[in-house]
Amino acid sequence: MDFTGKVAIITGASRGLGRHYAREFAKRGASVAVNDVRDCSETVQAIEAEGAAGMMTETDVTSADSARAMADAVLERFGRIDVLVNNAGLYGSLNFRPFEKLDEAEWDKVMNVNVKGIWQCCKAVLPAMKQQGSGSIVNISSLAATYGMPNGLHYTASKAAVIGLTRGLAREVGRYNIRVNAVAPNVVNTDATAEVFGDKRDKVIEVTLSQQAIRRPLETADIVGAVLFLASDLNHMTTGQTLMVDGGTVML
Ligand SMILES: NC(=O)c1ccc[n+]([C@@H]2O[C@H](COP(=O)([O-])OP(=O)(O)OC[C@H]3O[C@@H](n4cnc5c(N)ncnc54)[C@H](O)[C@@H]3O)[C@@H](O)[C@H]2O)c1
Repeated sequence: MDFTGKVAIITGASRGLGRHYAREFAKRGASVAVNDVRDCSETVQAIEAEGAAGMMTETDVTSADSARAMADAVLERFGRIDVLVNNAGLYGSLNFRPFEKLDEAEWDKVMNVNVKGIWQCCKAVLPAMKQQGSGSIVNISSLAATYGMPNGLHYTASKAAVIGLTRGLAREVGRYNIRVNAVAPNVVNTDATAEVFGDKRDKVIEVTLSQQAIRRPLETADIVGAVLFLASDLNHMTTGQTLMVDGGTVML
């Protein structure tokens, strides 16, 4: 997959999966713009180490103004936007617990970042994509949405909303030759996963593996191929879809 001459934006790319996506787009020739509420300097260094152009903005994806400023900065530096990967999400910092015990403020925050954040970033980049007559948006959902993960109803509901958002938006922008798809990973070995599960991590991985057809834990490198394919020119006519990267846990 060749992204030479293309410009990719990865949200929530200060670490974890976002940083990995950024590096892999850079490796394949893209200029990569990363953003986060946290510092993305190390991600920009990783992009530049691949010989690609990188830039970062401090962006809160829940804010329309912040998302628009991010898109404007990317257009000013790189002149176009070909790919948006909506990776920013609340996951690592969440309190996973039974539905009656979830905190109301945390529920609102999760919906705000994981769902509204995607809408804001899509709104910010779509004028440029429409003008170009091309573009590809990849939204990061989660297997939690299709499997029905217990003890994280806010997270599960938010990631299911990402699938609906993906389908609706794909229908609205397809006429402009813009694709909108989602990727739904199973539990991946990231810092955030370690934060979520703490000392229960090994037990969670054991249960997760028992449900996968391919019985090894998912690493960051296992997810990126799906994101790259959906974003790439190899994908002409797949839109509105959710690609599960789950070692064969949920089969649709
Ligand atoms: N790790 C997994 O097992 C797994 C599985 C399925 C889906 N996912 C999803 O993949 C994505 C990345 O996961 P990760 O494990 O790398 O987690 P992570 O917590 O390391 O990454 C999420 C990033 O989003 C950023 N972010 C949070 N709120 C933001 C905001 N308002 N504006 C901009 N950035 C914001 C965070 O600062 C963080 O850098 C998340 O959307 C997560 O829900 C992860």
